[in-house]
Amino acid sequence: MNPLLSHLQPYPFERLRQLFAGLTPPVQLSPISLGIGEPRHATPEFIRSTLSEAFPALASYPATAGTPALRQACAGWMQRRYGIALNPDTQVLPVNGSREALFSFAQTVIDPTRSPEPTVVCPNPFYQIYEGAALLAGAKPYFVPSLAERNFGVDWRSVPDSVWARTQLVYVCSPGNPTGAVMPLDEWALLFELSDRHGFVIASDECYSEIYFRDEPPLGGLEAAQRLGRQDFRNLVAFTSLSKRSNVPGMRSGFVAGDAQWLKHYLLYRTYHGSAMSGMIQAASVAAWNDEAHVQANRDQYRAKFAQVTPVLQEVLDVQLPDAGFYLWAAVPGGDDQAFARDLQAQYNVTVLPGSFLAREFQGVNPGRGRIRMALVAETAECLEAAHRIRQFIQHHH
Ligand SMILES: Cc1ncc(COP(=O)(O)O)c(C=O)c1O
Repeated sequence: MNPLLSHLQPYPFERLRQLFAGLTPPVQLSPISLGIGEPRHATPEFIRSTLSEAFPALASYPATAGTPALRQACAGWMQRRYGIALNPDTQVLPVNGSREALFSFAQTVIDPTRSPEPTVVCPNPFYQIYEGAALLAGAKPYFVPSLAERNFGVDWRSVPDSVWARTQLVYVCSPGNPTGAVMPLDEWALLFELSDRHGFVIASDECYSEIYFRDEPPLGGLEAAQRLGRQDFRNLVAFTSLSKRSNVPGMRSGFVAGDAQWLKHYLLYRTYHGSAMSGMIQAASVAAWNDEAHVQANRDQYRAKFAQVTPVLQEVLDVQLPDAGFYLWAAVPGGDDQAFARDLQAQYNVTVLPGSFLAREFQGVNPGRGRIRMALVAETAECLEAAHRIRQFIQHHH
């Protein structure tokens, strides 16, 4: 067996199963899960019908680079959303959701023979794929905390130069999972300057970019680069996905965009890996990227839901409306996130994810400890019911 596989950490939901083992929640309360961040709003009808009309595409092998129509649709969306003109032939590549892409991109970038100790810098807490991607590529993750004191901004300035010097890849997650924080332009400027100095690549995970609560849409990585005069997007690749934007997590569709040189290497890797997107999915993806009305409606639905649920939870929890994303990242009374999640499950049949499962201890501190992540993906009524139960749980039992 590849020995690196043994370095992988259990996924947060495995740890949750262990934490909940043997619990018997009250049967009169229906189970409500705020645990998994899976979109649950309805898939738009036009995406379903486009998909069902695309059966003829099954008769041929799709190209790894995708159809020109799909690359054009992705580039067109980037133009409308961020005001960026990308070359659809060299600066855009379809991927089967951002998860596999965030993983496989590391396999393309990391040179494990370059010493000393190839390093991948990740936010902490973080989306667990970053860590697995680093480990299987033969690199070591280096975790940078994002704490409430800094409005959940990742503290890039805390990373010593000696670490930057061996860094080959940096994951940025903006809007962040689980914090919902959006990285501002000056932090991008800092990272670009560090990237120029040390030669690392930036993978910008932007899969929550279309669900936001402020007037201004979240700044994208390529948008930041363009504003700072970096027209070639050197050493920068952005990862975008339809899963959350269009409520199609099962479609597995996204794209990457940015540095043409890196996308060329990445396309080579993907060709051998065999990760071409099905022609049917490509057809439905073109329709999805070309429509914005359903995205606006989806965002409105999240906004209405968060506006109702957040104040109920604020009566008992230290929690803010995030910049973006579909999570609430709350501090729990008493500070023991695992006990809180376990007792809430046992007494009220509501599932939340302990923050410590989403972060790694670094210099003696787990920056997820004392917090829980609540995914408000179910319909408003169900999320509200969960919020009322959490309020009751804290008022009566905690
Ligand atoms: C931060 C982050 N990045 C990427 C993904 C992957 O999404 P997908 O593969 O559906 O595009 C997720 C999914 O939950 C996520 O939370």
